[in-house]
Parts: sequence; C-alpha cells; structure tokens
Amino acid sequence: MEVTTEGLIKSFGTQAVLRGVSLTIRRGELVAIVGGSGCGKTVLLKHMIGYLRPDAGRVLVADHGHPGSPLTDLATLSDRKMDGLRVHWGVVFQRNALLTGDVFYNLALWPREIRDMTDEQIMPVARQALTDVGLDPDQVLRRSRDALSGGMAKRLAIARVLVMDPALIFYDEPTAGLDPEMCNTIHDLIDATHTRTPASGIARTSIVVTHDMQMLRRLAPRVVMLAEGTVYFDGTFEQFVARDDPHIRPYVQQMEALHARPVDPAQI
Ligand SMILES: Nc1ncnc2c1ncn2[C@@H]1O[C@H](COP(=O)(O)OP(=O)(O)OP(=O)(O)O)[C@@H](O)[C@H]1O
Ligand SMILES: [Mg+2]
Repeated sequence: MEVTTEGLIKSFGTQAVLRGVSLTIRRGELVAIVGGSGCGKTVLLKHMIGYLRPDAGRVLVADHGHPGSPLTDLATLSDRKMDGLRVHWGVVFQRNALLTGDVFYNLALWPREIRDMTDEQIMPVARQALTDVGLDPDQVLRRSRDALSGGMAKRLAIARVLVMDPALIFYDEPTAGLDPEMCNTIHDLIDATHTRTPASGIARTSIVVTHDMQMLRRLAPRVVMLAEGTVYFDGTFEQFVARDDPHIRPYVQQMEALHARPVDPAQI
C-alpha cells in the first residue's frame, strides 16, 4: 500500500469540494485522476502531499524511511517527520514551480538541501536526469529558467524530480497546453520513469492528474474519476471508455478541450 485516503471531506467557505473521497493506491501502480474542471483533482492531490488538511477524514501514506512499518497518518506528523516522508516523493506541478535561476540551480536545490550533496556530487546526477528527459546537458545546464520553452520547462520539472529518484511521483496535468509532439514525449517519459525501479528498490508509484485522453490511451493506467466530491469511477482505462454513463460520457467528450486549454495562472 502506498497512499490511502479515508472519507476525505474538504470545503472552502460554503463550497463542498471533497465530500468523502476514499481511495487506496497500491505500491507500483500508475493511476490517473480525471474529472471535470473544478471537481477537486488538484485539491485531492494537495491533500495527498500534505499541503492541505482535510476538514474530516485521513490521508495515510507509506513511510519509506522505515520499510515494513504501517501506513502513517499525515495529520499526526511533525514538520520534521513530514519532511522525512517528502524526501521519497516528487511533485511535478501544473505550472512547473521552477525557481528563478539556471537549470543547474533548479536541479541542485533539493539534493543540496535534503541530501547534503555537493555541486560536484550533484553534477553527474543532474546531467543524467537531463539526458533522461531528452535535454542536452551541455546546452541547457547554464540556461536561465526564463529562456526555456514550455516543453523544456516541463521536462526540467520532471528532471528535477528524477534527481531525487523518488518512490512516489505526483504529476498535475503534465501535458496541459503542450503541442501534440511534446505531449507524446512526456507520455513516454512518464512511462519510462514509472517502469524504472528507483535505486532504493521500491517499485515506483505514479499518480497523474490529467484530461489527456491520448496519455490514457498510451499508458492505460488505472483511472479514478472524481465527480460530485467523491470517487465516481475507479477501474481500468478500457472500462472507463466503454462505460455509458451520464457523468462519464460528457466528460470524455470535453477532455480534448480541457486538455488543450492554457494552464491556469492561479496554479503553481
Ligand atoms: N485554496 C482554495 N480556496 C478556495 N477555493 C479553492 C481553493 N482551492 C481550490 N478551490 C476550489 O475548489 C474547487 C476544486 O478545485 P481544483 O483545483 O481541485 O479543481 P480541479 O479538479 O483540479 O480542476 P482543473 O481540471 O480545472 O484543474 C474549485 O472550485 C476551486 O475554485
Ligand atoms: Mg487542477
């Protein structure tokens, strides 16, 4: 077991967004979280990484620092213990959340802060991560974040996760707003990263929030659809597209438009 949510409830003011989300994600799974715009996908993801606290319910996660220990309730953790868990997670944010500075600075930050690695130790890891995402280290290592195209910035955001070689990766709409060719590159990258076992030997778990039908087709993940604040559908990709359902059908028809829309500037 990797992540479990139990009856998550979350409101903002009078708006009830999560109305009892219960979901179990097993180690090594590739899971897509889908659902109409504003249905609470990003809010659910933020609960899973401990950025938001539920009004009721629990988030339980595996503690890779203590293999074999029972799942840990995020609400019981001190900041220090939370940081200990986060070392094993990577998040590719919707708007990448790259820092002002060059590519190496972005790649080096977490290994330096969290692993106490020196720049000399980080450099080969950073070069490998860039190569893995299809960027030429010699060309981009010293390039400013602001000089990257949208596709390059997304690849850097993934490379930044790869340098930490995490057991669990969250992606929030990793292909939204990218052209079809770049989308295909990112699909392959998510697949290759998912299937490559981390150095820790722990099978990687990947959780992808997306409206990208081509990605679902390519990766054939377990599909979890949120609607009306709960898990409305949970099954295989084949079951998802075959389902004749008054919520699923209209959503599937909207997916292309949702996927193509520009990234919401309110997101990180
Ligand atoms: N910090 C917040 N304060 C108030 N309302 C919020 C906050 N975060 C999210 N919401 C609201 O919760 C609802 C769900 O938001 P969320 O970002 O999870 O949607 P989503 O399913 O990710 O949609 P999209 O596909 O458009 O990204 C929205 O109505 C949003 O306005
Ligand atoms: Mg979202």
